[in-house]
Amino acid sequence: MFSNELEEGLIRSLMSFFDKNQVGELSSRIATDISKLQELLVTTLAEFIRQWITIVIGLSVILFISPKLTGIMLAIVPLVIALIIVFGKKIRKIARNAQDAAAESNSILSETLSGIKNVKSFGNEFFEMARYATKADTIQRLSIKGAIARGLFASLIIFGLFGSITFVVYQGHGMTLTGELSDKDFYIFILFTTFLAASFGGVGRMMGAIQNAVGATERLMDLLENETEAITKNAKIERWSGKVEFKNVDFTYETRTDVQVLKDVSFVVKPGETVAIVGPSGAGKSTITSLMLRFYEINDGEIFFDEKNSKDYELSELRKQMAIVPQEVMLFAGTIQENIAYGKPDASVEEIKDAAERANAMEFITKFPSGMETLVGDRGIQLSGGQKQRIAIARAILKNPTILILDEATSSLDSESEKLVQDALDKLMENRTSVVIAHRLSTIKNADKILVLDKGVLVEQGTHDELYAQNGVYTKLSKLQFG
Ligand SMILES: Nc1ncnc2c1ncn2[C@@H]1O[C@H](COP(=O)(O)OP(=O)(O)OP(=O)(O)O)[C@@H](O)[C@H]1O
Ligand SMILES: [Mg+2]
Repeated sequence: MFSNELEEGLIRSLMSFFDKNQVGELSSRIATDISKLQELLVTTLAEFIRQWITIVIGLSVILFISPKLTGIMLAIVPLVIALIIVFGKKIRKIARNAQDAAAESNSILSETLSGIKNVKSFGNEFFEMARYATKADTIQRLSIKGAIARGLFASLIIFGLFGSITFVVYQGHGMTLTGELSDKDFYIFILFTTFLAASFGGVGRMMGAIQNAVGATERLMDLLENETEAITKNAKIERWSGKVEFKNVDFTYETRTDVQVLKDVSFVVKPGETVAIVGPSGAGKSTITSLMLRFYEINDGEIFFDEKNSKDYELSELRKQMAIVPQEVMLFAGTIQENIAYGKPDASVEEIKDAAERANAMEFITKFPSGMETLVGDRGIQLSGGQKQRIAIARAILKNPTILILDEATSSLDSESEKLVQDALDKLMENRTSVVIAHRLSTIKNADKILVLDKGVLVEQGTHDELYAQNGVYTKLSKLQFG
C-alpha cells in the first residue's frame, strides 16, 4: 500500500525533482527503506509487543510480592535508559551513513550497467571498478563500525542487567534474613526479575531497529511530500486548432541558476504550420520543447495555445494534445505492439498495425519471426537507432496529436533508413502544427518559419529565403552546415 503511494508520488513529481535526484540512488533508497519498514512491521513489532507484555506482567508480580525490592530494582532502570539514548544516537548515525553510501554505490552500479557500452568502449572498466570499490569499502567500514558499536552496546546492557540482578539478589537476601520476605517469595521474585531483565535487554536492542525504521519512514515521508504535478485521469480531449505562441519567455533551470537559458523569446506558430528551430548546441532548442510540454514553469512571460494561457489548461489535457519524437528513443521491456500502443493504450490491433505501416516500421517488423509480438528492450531484441525511431513515430501517429514535436535526429541514420524515417515524419507532420528541431536542410527549407536561436536569444526568424537574404547568423549557420 505504502509503496504504491510512493510510486505515485514519484511519477507525479516535477521534472526539476528528477534533475536534482539520481534515479539509481532514489530506487536504492526506496528499496532499502521499504524493506526496513516491512521488517519492522513483520518481526520487530511482534517481538516488541511480546516483550512489553512480559514486562507488564512480570512487574505486576514482583510489585505484588515486594514493593520495596521492586523499587530498588527499578532505580537502576534510568541508568539503562540513559545508556540506550546515548548509544542509540551513535548507532543511528552510523547506520544512516552506511545507508547513504549504499545508495551512492547503487547509483554507480546502475549507471555503469546502463551505460556498459560506454564503459567498455572507453576501456574504463578499471576506473568504474575503483569507483565502486571506494564506496564498497566505505560501506564495509561503516558496517563494521556499526557492528562494533552494537556489540559494545549489547554487552554494556548485559553487564548492567546482571549487575542489577546481583544487586537485587543481595538486597533480597538481606530481606529474607530480617524476615521481611519469605524464602519462597524471594525465589519467585528473582525468577521474574530475570525474565524482566531479559525483556528490558530485548527492548533496548529493538529500540535500535525501531529507530532505524523511523529514520527510513521519515525519508519516505519526505519523498511523499515532494511537490507533485496535478494530473487528471480522464482529461477532456477537445481538439485544439494548434496555435502556439511564446510571449517574452524567460527561463532558468532550477538546478543551474547561474545561466539564463531562454531570454525574452517570442514567436507565433499558426495552426498547421511547420516551424524549424535551428541554432548551435546548447542554444536552448530542446528547452523550448520542454516548456511547451510544461515540464518546467517559466520565470517570466507567457505561453499560449489557441489564445489561452498554457497555465490555464489542465496539465493532462495539454500533454494529450502533443506528441514528441525524441532524439533518444526509450523502448520499454515488452513487445513491439505494446511499445507502439504506448501512444494510445486503448488502441485496437488494427489501429496499431496501421500506425506501424504509416511509420514505415512494418517493413522491418514483418522480418522478425514473431512480428508484432517480438520482445524488445532489456531482455529482447535490440533494435537499431532508425528502427527505434520508427517505433516512436508509430507511437506518435497513434496518439494523433494536434501539435507534433520532433527533436530530430535523422542525422545519425544511413541514407536509406533516413529516407524511410523522413518519409514517415513527413506523413506525420501533414495537417498538424509541427515544431521541429532540425538539422536537415530539406526540413528547414520546407518549414513555414525558421527560428534561429543563439545562447537563449531568438536572433532571427522568417522563411529560408528571407533569412538567407539577411546574410546574418542563419546564412552563416547554413553555409557551415550545408556547404
Ligand atoms: N535539465 C537541465 N538542468 C539544467 N540545465 C540544463 C538542463 N537541460 C539543459 N540545460 C542547459 O540549458 C542550456 C540549453 O540546453 P538545451 O538542451 O535546450 O540545448 P539545445 O539547443 O537543445 O542543444 P543541442 O542541439 O545540443 O541538443 C544548456 O546550457 C544546458 O546545459
Ligand atoms: Mg537538444
